[in-house]
Amino acid sequence: MWLIALSVSLLPAIYVVCSRYQLKVTTLCHQALAWTLRLLHRNVCVRSTHAFVFSNCTHGKADSVLETFDLYAETHQSVCIGPQIGEVLDDLVKRARPLLVLELGMHCGYSSVRMLHLLPPAGRLITVELDPLTADLGEEIILVAGFKHSQFQVLNCSSAEAIPKLHLSLETDQGTKTGFSLVLMDHNSQEYLPDLLSLEKEELLCPSGCSVLLIRRHQSADDLKAVLDHIRSRADCYSIKTELQYVLEIFYQK
Ligand SMILES: *[C@@H]1O[C@H](CO)[C@@H](O)[C@H](O)[C@H]1NC(C)=O
Ligand SMILES: *[C@@H]1O[C@H](CO)[C@@H](O)[C@H](O)[C@H]1NC(C)=O
Repeated sequence: MWLIALSVSLLPAIYVVCSRYQLKVTTLCHQALAWTLRLLHRNVCVRSTHAFVFSNCTHGKADSVLETFDLYAETHQSVCIGPQIGEVLDDLVKRARPLLVLELGMHCGYSSVRMLHLLPPAGRLITVELDPLTADLGEEIILVAGFKHSQFQVLNCSSAEAIPKLHLSLETDQGTKTGFSLVLMDHNSQEYLPDLLSLEKEELLCPSGCSVLLIRRHQSADDLKAVLDHIRSRADCYSIKTELQYVLEIFYQK
């Protein structure tokens, strides 16, 4: 909520700066305005998706929660990954049978529920969401879908802050100090490469195999290229599994 308040209060300032230094900063201003509008739009979208799903699904049933999300996406623009990428995610979870999953960027909780739904009984999800409102609403949806706090944890901070502290969250899992075997990145695409490097550095990627799924959104072309360059330079431990219009799947094995 404070982000919306901050963004709205910044609009006049952005406008004044824009008109005063018209020539030099036009691009910068356009970017700032576009960013603010995207943020506002995202928050409105998260709220309305949440309200729709919360009031129209059968509580306690993950299937119903997912169906209601899909129903919403049929008639509204949504920030969730949608059924198409959802199916790619389902296949991956069924194939990898991951015990520990890391999600960066939870939007409305759709992909969290979709993954939890197919995890093996001992599987656990840690999801990181920077925006407090989105984190709260997403967590509520996961609970509405019938999952328990023993199966998931929502970390309400940036991925850069979360990753170095993930060891602490993992220490509570006896015998699962092997790291994540599935990582879903759907946050700010500029963080994809730094976060991947940081996960490597902290030895959080399961050495016997970890799938990393990167969601492609509008502005992520350059950021994904940076990731692909890194993957290609580290052919000893990385390979590209699938490259589709909306997702990129890479595989890490040491
Ligand atoms: C629940 O679904 C109905 C019918 O699809 C829709 O009209 C209504 O707005 C939804 N509820 C909310 C709170 O969005
Ligand atoms: C996220 O942080 C905010 C403010 O620090 C807090 O009010 C909220 O409960 C947190 N949400 C979750 C899911 O931890």
